[in-house]
Formats: sequence, structure tokens, C-alpha cells
Amino acid sequence: MREPRIPTVRTERLILRGFAPGDHADFAALRGDPDVVRYLPGGEALVPFAEQIANTRMAAFHDAWDCGYGVWAIEEASTGAFVGQAGLAAMDRTSDVEVLYALARRFWGRGYAREAAAAALRFGFETVGLERIVGYVVPENTASARVLEAVGLRFTGDTTYNGFTVRAFAIEATDWPIDAGPGTPS
Ligand SMILES: CC(C)(COP(=O)(O)OP(=O)(O)OC[C@H]1O[C@@H](n2cnc3c(N)ncnc32)[C@H](O)[C@@H]1OP(=O)(O)O)[C@@H](O)C(=O)NCCC(=O)NCCS
Repeated sequence: MREPRIPTVRTERLILRGFAPGDHADFAALRGDPDVVRYLPGGEALVPFAEQIANTRMAAFHDAWDCGYGVWAIEEASTGAFVGQAGLAAMDRTSDVEVLYALARRFWGRGYAREAAAAALRFGFETVGLERIVGYVVPENTASARVLEAVGLRFTGDTTYNGFTVRAFAIEATDWPIDAGPGTPS
């Protein structure tokens, strides 16, 4: 499944790379953890379908790279462990590109999400040439909102997405680069 068109990006502690077939069990475990999926589209109701979702998402992530950007698997550089997913995705029904991430619970609280999100922004602005990147979080997901703010996105208002009220954040290419702190790729 890994092909050269999916670039590998290294940060201080992480390797962002294309999903490989061997990631399936770890990715299904991530999608099957209620704490991880609570604030993702579909939420905990999708936990029983984690195996199938892992299959379809891995295939969709792979295909999406045709447009020049997409979602990587995150690997911990020091151990090779599967950490989660992060990257950029075209949003439905708008021309916006969203930064997204989800980490296995045991890797929370180490600044990995910020490190991966900063790498995704850098790739989007400096390699792809995007003009703007957005982020959407449900109001309860304060951890994710902190990640977005830490990498330079600003709150632009509440909006409705897929029937839910979400907090919208955005960063323009003209505001990049920002100093996102330790671990930011340079
Ligand atoms: C959101 C998520 C990626 C954050 O990962 P993380 O590795 O813990 O985040 P970081 O360690 O980079 O922390 C980023 C900031 O969030 C803060 N934070 C982390 N967990 C938090 C929590 N539970 N409540 C409030 N703030 C929190 C950190 O203190 C840090 O803030 P700082 O920059 O001011 O120090 C992780 O919780 C996750 O995978 N959640 C499930 C999937 C998800 O919700 N994805 C986002 C969908 S919009």
C-alpha cells in the first residue's frame, strides 16, 4: 500500500508516513477506543464497526493522496510504535482543507498531536502551496482546540457541520510559519 507519492515527513519525535497493511490492527484498535472516537464524526456509535472502518479509512486515506496531500500514519521515531493518524483532508461541500489528527490514548499528553499537526501545516503551506487550512472541533473537545491554537489556527466562530455545532478555526498561508514550540519541524 505504501507508494512514493505519499511522502514521509520526519519531526523531532515522529515519522509521518503512508499507512501500511501492517497498521490495520493498531488502527482498528484506535478506531475502537470510545475515548478516541468520542468527538470524531459518528462518535462512539461506530465502535462496534471499528474493523470495517479501519479497512475503509485506510483505503480512502491512500486514494486521497492523488490530490497531493492526505492523511499519514504517525509512527513514534524512537520505538516504531503506531501512534495514530494526522494530516490534511479536503472537506465535503467546501473548498476548505482541514487539518486532522487522532492519537492512541497512551500517546496523549506528550505534545505529539501538536508536533504532527505542525508538520501537516508545514507540508500544506510549503509543499502543496495551500492558501488556508481550517480545523473544526466540537465544543467539548478542548484538547483538540488547544492543539489547533498551539499550531497557529485562530477561532473564527461557531458553525454547523454535518448537523452539529462546531467551533471553526483557520490559519492563512500569510500567517505561516508560526513558532509552535519544541518539536516543530524546521
Ligand atoms: C486531541 C488529541 C489529538 C490531543 O492529543 P495530545 O497528544 O494529548 O495533545 P498534545 O499533547 O499535543 O497537547 C496539546 C494541548 O492540548 C492540551 N490538552 C491535552 N489534553 C487535554 C485535555 N484532555 N483537556 C484539555 N487540554 C488538553 C495540552 O495541555 C496542550 O496544551 P498546551 O499546548 O497549552 O500545552 C488527542 O486527545 C486525541 O487523539 N483525541 C481523540 C481524537 C480527536 O478528538 N481528534 C481531534 C478531532 S477534531
